[in-house]
Amino acid sequence: MKQKLVVFTGAGISAESGIKTFRDSGGLWEEFDINEVATPQAWEKNQALVLDFYNKRRKQVLEAQPNNAHTALVELEQKYDVQIITQNIDDLHERAGSKKVLHLHGEITKSRSSIDDSLIYRIKGEEIRLGDKCEKGSQLRPHIVWFGEMVPMMDVANIIAEKADIFIVVGTSMAVYPAAGLIDYSPDGIPKYLIDPSDVNVNGIANLKVIKEKASIGLPKLASELLK
Ligand code: APR
Repeated sequence: MKQKLVVFTGAGISAESGIKTFRDSGGLWEEFDINEVATPQAWEKNQALVLDFYNKRRKQVLEAQPNNAHTALVELEQKYDVQIITQNIDDLHERAGSKKVLHLHGEITKSRSSIDDSLIYRIKGEEIRLGDKCEKGSQLRPHIVWFGEMVPMMDVANIIAEKADIFIVVGTSMAVYPAAGLIDYSPDGIPKYLIDPSDVNVNGIANLKVIKEKASIGLPKLASELLK
């Protein structure tokens, strides 16, 4: 049986594909106020503004291509049972060819009913518009987990982390919970790696090797080591 390789990814893995991160200098949360675009209150206050914010994010994602880091994770499937748990809302892991991808914070390519969470649709084209409705007649919203909302996939993700034989973290500031707590569910004794060009606060994690490089450099290097 293949060893289970769990990979926890954040905005940094898609940075070199041209998708902005959130908290780096020049990141999205410098330009936009979270409270105005990424909370249920924002949605109640101004649906047009929220839709516009995510329509722009979607356009950017559709124009982007997976980079070397996404591809390295696909190559690891030759030898490992690779399970990606991503905070990203883009579909670059899927487009690179990764088979198992769990999105913790939703998917930009999908819309959802605003009265029934089980009604999820693939968006045709680039936009959700005011007046686009679900089959029950409610306005469609982005299929995104906003600040202040539950993270429905968190329990599933924690169970996957518990079974990891190797755990890799790539391109996340580890600032947003509960997602950032995922690594705490991985077994103590297994090898762990963190790839990020900046210092990330990961105190108290045993067996952690920090690779201080961009994802497109650090991940292919680590992948070729792990594939030996
Ligand atoms: N390669 C690897 N890492 C990079 C690169 C790169 N080329 N460029 C930047 N980074 C790192 C940064 O150093 C930082 O640690 O990516 C991380 C990005 O952190 P954030 O912007 O905070 O993104 P993320 O951790 O994914 O955010 C978590 O916050 O706003 C919410 O829901 C949103 O899922 C998101 C969550």
